[in-house]
Amino acid sequence: MNIVLVILIAYLLGSIPSALWIGKVFFKTDIREHGSGNLGATNTFRVLGKKAGIIVTLLDILKGSAAVWIASLAYFQPLPVETIVIGLFAVIGHMFPLFARFRGGKAVATSAGVLLAYAPIVFVIVLAIFIISLKVTKMVSLSSVIVACSGIIIAIVEFIRSQNYSFSIIVICMALFIIYRHRANLERIKNGTEPKITWL
Ligand code: G3P
Repeated sequence: MNIVLVILIAYLLGSIPSALWIGKVFFKTDIREHGSGNLGATNTFRVLGKKAGIIVTLLDILKGSAAVWIASLAYFQPLPVETIVIGLFAVIGHMFPLFARFRGGKAVATSAGVLLAYAPIVFVIVLAIFIISLKVTKMVSLSSVIVACSGIIIAIVEFIRSQNYSFSIIVICMALFIIYRHRANLERIKNGTEPKITWL
């Protein structure tokens, strides 16, 4: 498969605005007009409840994983890049979705999906860090930023250990995207106005 086609498929997959479509189809609600306004799993939990939140989380994770899996399948005609590079285009699609006027989510779940498919052990490590942070801080946004910072450290360690450029560069890119997309949250955290979860 041609690399441009694989990149396009990854971007289009990432562009599927699951939070928007689940909200509109099943709840007649545009979640961009409620809560934080973000097209992501956290705002879906907040606005539409647990069931919808879990479904959107899984779908957003699946977008990232599917992009990496499709890239692996394309190897019958070898791609000139590692599959994790293709995963990054799903993350870009999630942040700037073609099907939602380029206003998408904050890259967390789709980046997690990329890791799950490419480096499952790293996925388990960052998931554990996320759960512990969430338990301590009660803030999904802060936990996401903590996970992104851990990702940068893991990427540097992995680079020193194995010189895996693709992995380290893509993980650092995903982490920086996550941190940048959380700038409003970081401002609210600083002001003490960021909402906390009550169910953990
Ligand atoms: O994954 C996004 C989450 O970290 C923050 O979402 O809606 O609270 O801005 P939100």
